[in-house]
Amino acid sequence: VSLCVGGSNIFASVRENSPAGHFISNISIRAEPGASAVRLCLTGPNAIWFYLEGRTIRLNSSASRVLDREVLGPFLIAELTCYEGNIKQSQYRILVEILNENDNKPKFLEATIQPFTVSEVAAVNSVVFTVKAEDSDGDMITYIIDQSSFRIDLPNSGKVVLNKPLDYESRTRLQILLWAQESNTVEKFKVSTVLTVNVEDVDDHYPHFLPCTPVSPGVPVCMNPTYTANITWKNQDTVLEFSPGPIRARDGDLGINAPLLYTILSDDHGRFIIDNRTGEIKYSVATAFVRVLSENSFPPLFNTTTFKGFIIQSSSPASIVSTYGNQVLQVQVMDWDFPDGRNPNIRFFLHPPSQLYQVTQEGVLIARTDQLRPFDRHLLQLQVIARDDESGEEASASVDIEVLQRGQAVPHGAFKEQQLFGDMDSRLAGGIAALILLTF
Ligand SMILES: *[C@@H]1O[C@H](CO)[C@@H](O)[C@H](O)[C@H]1NC(C)=O
Ligand SMILES: *[C@@H]1O[C@H](CO)[C@@H](O)[C@H](O)[C@H]1NC(C)=O
Ligand SMILES: *[C@@H]1O[C@H](CO)[C@@H](O)[C@H](O)[C@H]1NC(C)=O
Ligand SMILES: *[C@@H]1O[C@H](CO)[C@@H](O)[C@H](O)[C@H]1NC(C)=O
Ligand SMILES: *[C@@H]1O[C@H](CO)[C@@H](O)[C@H](O)[C@H]1NC(C)=O
Repeated sequence: VSLCVGGSNIFASVRENSPAGHFISNISIRAEPGASAVRLCLTGPNAIWFYLEGRTIRLNSSASRVLDREVLGPFLIAELTCYEGNIKQSQYRILVEILNENDNKPKFLEATIQPFTVSEVAAVNSVVFTVKAEDSDGDMITYIIDQSSFRIDLPNSGKVVLNKPLDYESRTRLQILLWAQESNTVEKFKVSTVLTVNVEDVDDHYPHFLPCTPVSPGVPVCMNPTYTANITWKNQDTVLEFSPGPIRARDGDLGINAPLLYTILSDDHGRFIIDNRTGEIKYSVATAFVRVLSENSFPPLFNTTTFKGFIIQSSSPASIVSTYGNQVLQVQVMDWDFPDGRNPNIRFFLHPPSQLYQVTQEGVLIARTDQLRPFDRHLLQLQVIARDDESGEEASASVDIEVLQRGQAVPHGAFKEQQLFGDMDSRLAGGIAALILLTF
């Protein structure tokens, strides 16, 4: 009877990262190798991972060659051959399963954490980008974000949702700290990464005339300057020198800085010519005229009892209130003591004065956007008064302002009940409201 009999195929398991010499299996052949003519031999693809010690198979690993399931795969396969003298007597298969250990941390996929660009008008609650991390041990991953402007959609999804409106004019770049953490292990290994989000500028601010005098301290909305020039016939066809001067406007969108177009809004007799690109004004035809002021027999009157306004809530400190169709809301009064109904002595103010709103002398309303909450409605508190500074007569109207959420569109409205800036692009309107005052 052969000394090699009694053996069988070997099925065993070993933990990942087990130390050198770790017991794998005993071999059940009858004879002790070395003590007889019997010789055992390991062959096959993974034979290098085993060595024999008598009738015991042990793990052949070292500090520089650790048993890594993520590299080798889940099984080690080899053959054991038993020789008697030089004659092969039997062969057995060895199949050893490598048991998984949590020896890897999650890892973010590089492609998903590259610097990212988000438009400043991206809608709140929309998914702006998706990150992904993987774990070689196949563990489940939870994502955590450390930034109030963004949040994670569902813990396991990696979808990053915009939490608060962005504003290029206040911040052009955000750094987000992101964590990927194992959720189904004892170790709860986690890794972090810093993601750069660049905010993309969108043309969402009005241009304004320079120099800029803030409407109130710390509010970067400019009061329109009044440009003044003294002219005589000698000034004909030369560029007028204004004070403050020269007439210049700047785009409120700092990153875009779109080219501006200058226009004179009212010049009944066409006496002035403006260069639409530089804003330079020339006086072309000298005409002297006298206006005979009539008796004050009409009070100023608003065309409507209630003006309708909309404001989109945002983090920028102040914005101009618009009306239907996103046109600039401009309150106007008619005074029929004047042939064109326009009384230059009218002054607008809010009564009682509001912490949230201001009205400019052109009848444009400015709101402290950062102090508004979406869905607020300011109707009863807001009264706009027009006072004729010469006669002391007053007219009043209420203003119904609805605060819209960022990303919400301004309604178009079925009909126009306010005096608008005609068909003029509303982006230009804020800037156009500057007064050009000429004294003879
Ligand atoms: C393997 O063999 C050795 C020596 O014959 C013995 O001491 C040990 O208990 C055996 N182990 C198993 C698991 O059978
Ligand atoms: C054990 O592994 C080393 C490589 O680290 C190899 O050189 C050696 O031959 C292996 N031993 C056996 C008995 O296969
Ligand atoms: C216009 O004339 C007045 C009176 O002479 C003078 O005070 C003022 O500075 C002049 N303004 C400009 C812009 O030259
Ligand atoms: C600006 O003025 C120039 C020349 O005066 C004219 O040709 C051009 O059409 C104007 N541009 C616009 C947009 O009005
Ligand atoms: C305001 O009323 C005057 C006089 O009735 C009229 O000429 C003007 O067009 C009106 N404006 C609006 C916006 O209704």
